[in-house]
Amino acid sequence: MVLSCESSFPQFGSFSESKELPLIDDFGRGLWVHMVEIDTLHGEFVSLVNTLGTSSDEMFPPLFQELVVHTEGHFDFENKQMQRKRYPLMATHRAEHDRVLSEMRRINDEVKRGEFEAARYYLTELPAWFRLHVLSMDCALSNFLNKKI
Ligand SMILES: [Fe+2]
Ligand SMILES: [Fe+2]
Repeated sequence: MVLSCESSFPQFGSFSESKELPLIDDFGRGLWVHMVEIDTLHGEFVSLVNTLGTSSDEMFPPLFQELVVHTEGHFDFENKQMQRKRYPLMATHRAEHDRVLSEMRRINDEVKRGEFEAARYYLTELPAWFRLHVLSMDCALSNFLNKKI
């Protein structure tokens, strides 16, 4: 199965020029969905995940909390777009958002208790999920939304 969004969308330099140790290292090379709002949210998500990947234990809890809050906003934006435009695949996409957010919140509870092991491991798994989610569900959504505008 070939998963790809069209790759002609201009890149945002600030994301692709990141000097952070990349957990998600190819954001400038094919993960654009061709909707500025969603691509911006994704760029911010990538930046947060990559920063968390190299953060000290001291900075880890506030950054993980920031990731949860950002992901809530990110998914809420996509959910509202789906609802507003009566997206036919909304139930599946929304269920996936709910599943991921629930897992992220559960891990954040551990981080708040000073337990980072599961969260550190989770961050190594998150890039693969993000890549698949963007190239499947988010690309399909943006293709639908771009035709509706
Ligand atoms: Fe997304
Ligand atoms: Fe999504």
